[in-house]
Amino acid sequence: MSSPDKAAPKSGQFADKSLDQALRPQKWAEYIGQEHIKKNLRILIQAASERKEPIEHLLFYGPPGLGKTTLAHLIAKELGAQIKITSGPAIDKVGDLASILTNLSPGDILFIDEIHRLNKNIEEVLYPAMESRVLDIIIGKGPSARSIQLELPPFTLISATTRIALLSSPLRSRFSGGTFRLEFYTPEETKNIIIRSANILGMNIASDAATEIAKRSRFTPRIANHFLKRCRDFAQVHGQKELDLNSVEQALSMMEIDSVGLNPHDRRMLEILIEKFGGGPVGVQTLAAASSEEEATIEEVYEPYLLQLGFIDRTPRGRVATPRAYEHLGKKPKQEGLL
Ligand SMILES: Nc1ncnc2c1ncn2[C@@H]1O[C@H](COP(=O)(O)OP(=O)(O)OP(=O)(O)O)[C@@H](O)[C@H]1O
Ligand SMILES: [Mg+2]
Repeated sequence: MSSPDKAAPKSGQFADKSLDQALRPQKWAEYIGQEHIKKNLRILIQAASERKEPIEHLLFYGPPGLGKTTLAHLIAKELGAQIKITSGPAIDKVGDLASILTNLSPGDILFIDEIHRLNKNIEEVLYPAMESRVLDIIIGKGPSARSIQLELPPFTLISATTRIALLSSPLRSRFSGGTFRLEFYTPEETKNIIIRSANILGMNIASDAATEIAKRSRFTPRIANHFLKRCRDFAQVHGQKELDLNSVEQALSMMEIDSVGLNPHDRRMLEILIEKFGGGPVGVQTLAAASSEEEATIEEVYEPYLLQLGFIDRTPRGRVATPRAYEHLGKKPKQEGLL
C-alpha cells in the first residue's frame, strides 16, 4: 500500500481510531521491553525461516494491554506472513473453525485471541489441526454419518489469553513453539513507550511529565497511551504547546488516577476488602458479590496490578490486604491479637 504523505505524522493528523493503530509498534526495535520474549522469538523465527518452515504454535498470556496482539502482528510482519485474526467467542460452531482452517494458505498465521473462551468441542477439533495439520470432520447424522479427514496447509497458530489457568492442559501442551508470559513493564520502559508515542503524536513532553504518566499507568502500554492522549487534550485546551509535569498532574487528578495509578474502582475494591472484610482473607466469589463485579473482572483487571504493587496477597484462604494497602488508603492496619 502506498501513502500519499510519507512525512512524519504531525499532531492532529490522526482520527482517534487510527491513532491507536499509529501508536502500535511496527518493528521489533519499536517494541520496547519484554526482552526475554523477544530474544526467544527472534531465534525461533530465524531458525524456522532458514529451514523454510512455519514457526511452531505460540501462546501469549498476561494482563490486558501489555502487547500480546502487537507481538502476533510483529511476528507475521517479520515472517512476511499473512495473519488471519479471530477470537475464542467468535468461533461459535465447529463449522466456523473448520472454515477458518480450510481457508488458510501455506505459511499463514492464525491468531486466536481470548483462546480461553473457546468451546470444549471446538477445542478438540483444534488438537489434530495443531498437532498433525489435519481436520477430522463428521459429515451427516445418525447411521449414515461418516468421518473424513482433510489435510491442512502448514500454518502457525498464535493465541493470546488473559487467563491461562482456564486453558485445559491438552490445549496448553500443543503450543510447541512456547508459552510466553508478558510481564508488566519497568517504569523506565513505560516512560520510553510514552516518549515514543508522544513523538508519533508530534508532541513535546517534558521528561518529568513522561515519568509521572509512567508512574501512574500501571506499567501497561495501553493505559500509558490512553493517559498520554488525555493529557494532550488537557494541555491543548489550556493553550500549552508542551506537556509539562503540572498539566499531567492536573489532567490525571481530574481523571481521579492517584499517585500509584489506582482509579476509583481499584480503590473501592481495596476499601471493600478492608472495611467489609477486615482486610481478609476473603474468597474472590464473596468479594465479587460484595462489589457487584464479576469474578473474572476481579481476577483479570483488578488483581494483577494490586498484586504487583504488593497491596494484596493471594492466600489459600482468600485475598488479604497488606499493610501497604492500608497505608496507601490512609487507614490504620488491623492489629492481630489485640482486643
Ligand atoms: N512493547 C511495546 N512497546 C510499545 N508499545 C506497546 C508495546 N506493547 C503494547 N504497546 C501499545 O499498547 C497497545 C496495547 O497492546 P496490545 O493490544 O497488543 O495488548 P494486548 O496484550 O493484546 O491486550 P488485550 O489482552 O486487551 O488484548 C498497542 O496498541 C500498542 O500501541
Ligand atoms: Mg489483544
